[in-house]
Amino acid sequence: MRIAYTSDLHVDISQRNWELVPYLVEVLKLVDPDVLVIAGDVSPELGDLEYALDCFAPLRCLKLFVPGNHDVWVLSEEMQELGHDSYEKYFFYLPDACKRNGFVPLWMEPVTLRGVGFAGSVGWYDHKGGKETQAAFPREHHYLLDSMWNDMRWACWGDISFMMDGVPSMVRRPDGEVAREFNLRLDQDIEMLAGDARVSEIVVVTHYPPFDELSVEGVPFSGSRDTGGILLSHPKVSTSISGHIHDKRDLLVKGVRAVRCPVGYLGWEKKKYQDMVMECLEVIHIMEEDDFIPER
Ligand SMILES: [Fe+2]
Ligand SMILES: [Fe+2]
Repeated sequence: MRIAYTSDLHVDISQRNWELVPYLVEVLKLVDPDVLVIAGDVSPELGDLEYALDCFAPLRCLKLFVPGNHDVWVLSEEMQELGHDSYEKYFFYLPDACKRNGFVPLWMEPVTLRGVGFAGSVGWYDHKGGKETQAAFPREHHYLLDSMWNDMRWACWGDISFMMDGVPSMVRRPDGEVAREFNLRLDQDIEMLAGDARVSEIVVVTHYPPFDELSVEGVPFSGSRDTGGILLSHPKVSTSISGHIHDKRDLLVKGVRAVRCPVGYLGWEKKKYQDMVMECLEVIHIMEEDDFIPER
């Protein structure tokens, strides 16, 4: 089984990001994978997300999406005041946008294809980073600081218990609680797949990195280590696909292959789109029974 993956399309960030998407699709048509995974951060605007997902319509493979932090932002203080929050996007608008455009909203419904289970979640973070200071932040990763500031402003997970008490403005749930909630859901989804005898291995897609090993030097860990713990606690989990940090990774963490291949923020360097696609799209192979030569 061939799984193509990418993340962090950020089509709202630059013209080049926007224009890259059809080129990604052209290459994917040639690659002809069994599964396509987009691990979040397409755009905070739902219209942009629909544009991007619709570009992949010519592909007939199983298409999976999980949202990133940018996708759950509510970019209007007035809307937030009115009670529109990231949960609304996460549980209603984003799944709808996926379904309208032929993508499975993986964080809502785990899926199985030919014995391989797929589960997903945005992941979120609990601020249990390391002792690194902002001064040590590598320059090329300063967007992660901006992302954190923007999350504080635009990612708002409303606390419904306060809303029901008639409190007029949005009361936000702390990130640690949000991470715990999403970890619990992910654990349940993986558990369900793991309990299915027909599922021989599981691929987990999160936007935030589940393992410390996926961090960059000098940058505090921007995920929840509990997410990684969940992945490692299920022996059938073989693969982790994530995003958020804009550099490519492919490593082994205690037997789990952890990969990411983001687009990131494209600059104005003189590079052809065709060449850029090669850097932000990867394919992993998962062995299936048919791949093995039968014993004589
Ligand atoms: Fe990103
Ligand atoms: Fe992100």
